[in-house]
Amino acid sequence: MMRPWLLYILVLSLCSTTACQKDGKVESSMNTTIFGKLPDGRDVHRYTLKNRSGATAQIIDYGAAITSLQVPDRNGKIEDVVLGYDTVQGYIEGTAYLGSIVGRYGNRIGKGKFQLDGREYQLTVNDGENHLHGGKTGFNKVLWEATPVPTSGEPSLDLQYVSRDGEEGYPGTVVLKVRYTLTDKNELQVEYEGTTDRPTILNPTQHSYFNLSGSFTNTILNHQLMIDADGITPVDKGLIPTGQILSVANTPLDFRTSTAIGARIGEANEQLAFGKGYDHNWVLRSGGGKVAKAAELYDPASGRLMTVFTDQPGLQFYSGNFLDGSAKGKNGTAYQHRTGLCLEAQAFPDTPNKPQFPTVTLRPGQVYRQTTIYQFSTR
Ligand code: BGC
Repeated sequence: MMRPWLLYILVLSLCSTTACQKDGKVESSMNTTIFGKLPDGRDVHRYTLKNRSGATAQIIDYGAAITSLQVPDRNGKIEDVVLGYDTVQGYIEGTAYLGSIVGRYGNRIGKGKFQLDGREYQLTVNDGENHLHGGKTGFNKVLWEATPVPTSGEPSLDLQYVSRDGEEGYPGTVVLKVRYTLTDKNELQVEYEGTTDRPTILNPTQHSYFNLSGSFTNTILNHQLMIDADGITPVDKGLIPTGQILSVANTPLDFRTSTAIGARIGEANEQLAFGKGYDHNWVLRSGGGKVAKAAELYDPASGRLMTVFTDQPGLQFYSGNFLDGSAKGKNGTAYQHRTGLCLEAQAFPDTPNKPQFPTVTLRPGQVYRQTTIYQFSTR
């Protein structure tokens, strides 16, 4: 007869690789597989986090990218709500930052230049004459070091990337840690912690494209959005902030009450013209510093509701205006115009050149921290 302790170990090891049933309830799990290989031979791993409510999140160590997020609709049907690729090659070649952590600076820095402590720095210019999302080889184009967090409860994955002094023009070696946790309340928590050995700037964000409908051939134009913000940081035609704050009142950028994204996206408005749709930073009413509700995204057809909480002062809402069918995503689906949208919690764009914006400077001895939560429920 099998010894009881041997049986216990067998059950435990099964539960670490598969979803287990205990007292009729699904157990949480964390499962690791090889997703593919980089051209230099290194393996890219995929981690599957499953919670006790049956939701799953898949994350790869390349770009710390969320490749899939499966959550229930109002009838309990579990479907994927984030755009992604089936292969490592897709992530290597992709230019849309699908699902990745972007940095060192998420969003744009005018002409890629900034001054810090009296010294001027020139960053890689990769978006017209500006710097976008960390440059040519940003945090989305590197292999992170992933470590599953030992727990029998809500599954967590730690990822770390060491960005060397001078990378893409940034000063100081930055160590950035990101922890993804899938809670039993169907929340994907993203916690960041960063340090530096020289004064630098740091503003990472999560760049998932959401489509709550259950099919990536649907656009997001019927999704209804609420953003808890009275203003945006208006931009010029290169999408660099002017430095002012513009009230959203009486503009198509007013999302203080939940409104269909498609309802006003075609209106004649200078900001919409510059962004080719919505591609702006909303100035959150909470002001940052404490985790607060920032936005709600609702798909009336499936009933899925995503609530975003963050401690950041800004939220970039990007309506997928540059998706044009050239990105071939999961199951061969070509991601067409506005079939996904991003809600990126972050500091304001071009802050290093706008002293009136909340700072992004990080100095030795300080710790950068961010918490952003994507919570899924139904209505
Ligand atoms: C930016 C867009 C940019 C896109 C790239 C978004 O975060 O706001 O302007 O084109 O990322 O995928």
